[in-house]
Amino acid sequence: MASSVNDADLSARFAERFGATPRVFRAPGRINIIGEHVDYCDGLVLPAAIDRWCSAAAAANGSDVLQVAAIDVAAEASLDLGALTPRKDWSDYVAGVAQVLRREGIAVPGADLMVTSDVPIGAGVSSSAALEVAVLLALLALAGVADVPRVQLTRWAQAAENDFVGMPCGIMDQFASVHGVAGHALRLDCRTLDFTPVALPDSAAFVLVDSMQRHALVDGGYAERRADCEAAAAALGASLRDVTLAQLARAALPERPAKRARHVVSEIARVDAAVAALAAEDLSGLGRLLDASHASLSADMAVSTAALDKLAACARAVPGVYGARMMGGGFGGSVLALVDAVQAQAAQDAIVAGYAAATGVAANAMMVRAGDGAGEVMP
Ligand code: GLA
Repeated sequence: MASSVNDADLSARFAERFGATPRVFRAPGRINIIGEHVDYCDGLVLPAAIDRWCSAAAAANGSDVLQVAAIDVAAEASLDLGALTPRKDWSDYVAGVAQVLRREGIAVPGADLMVTSDVPIGAGVSSSAALEVAVLLALLALAGVADVPRVQLTRWAQAAENDFVGMPCGIMDQFASVHGVAGHALRLDCRTLDFTPVALPDSAAFVLVDSMQRHALVDGGYAERRADCEAAAAALGASLRDVTLAQLARAALPERPAKRARHVVSEIARVDAAVAALAAEDLSGLGRLLDASHASLSADMAVSTAALDKLAACARAVPGVYGARMMGGGFGGSVLALVDAVQAQAAQDAIVAGYAAATGVAANAMMVRAGDGAGEVMP
């Protein structure tokens, strides 16, 4: 679902619906170049905010209710600030943010909100984090709370998803949405939350192809992977960040946690290898790391699907593609292909054609650029 509503239109539609002039905030989705299913294990990740955003227009309404209009799903929700409970729909991301802020002692005022997004939903590009962060900025502004450290914004948005929505995600998505730097990926250490922007060479293009298989990460597979990794770390008596493959092999864990841990340990090592490849503009080397990441996510982490395996294989068969892997939580969603910039459009078309020929499915594809993190949109 892509919105065609730009921020000026959003303000106009807000004024029409609510009779007030809003402030508008926006927060991007993200890609993750490498470092998948390791953020909740103290790992290293390499995401980038992308040039697709969720925008939230907001104005206080003097009541005790958040009245939220979601343009893209043509729906409204009335959320009573004194009695926020999950409704198991899109509005939980909004209510969850309000709940976390209230828990922090912040007086969230009643407000009218209107949201729209061109971050595809369920495609593995963090449409939910974008919504959380945009709403978080809006509610903080209306509450008159300024100068919150950006890392705190990240933690609050993650808490909304963990504690209210019930998805035990790590911190990568919200962190990338808040901290994005145009033209750069972020090498993020999820243990310390130290991060370094890593320049992306102009010779590289990132093509995102949606398998059209929808994931629902609240469904349990993600939480199971996380639990397996925690069990492995407990059995080893160490964070998986500090374990080597040799130690893991010697530890003789039961098969499933052993495989999950092997993914985590090998994937963390691939992140700094990817940073080095980017610095050297070695796109072939980076492509091989993406392919290896996919293989590990598929065989050891078991979060890929037949459709994602097929789509990644179709991508790798296309001239100009250096490597491809499933991206995000998995169980459906998108494949990220690293493509030679000069051939990017032709490669994108060829991947879509190859996937259609192999599966009969017409995939959505888009080229994404690394963009800046969340903020207020100035009129
Ligand atoms: C989802 C979660 C992230 C991360 C990825 C997998 O996007 O929200 O925290 O765990 O899956 O890397």
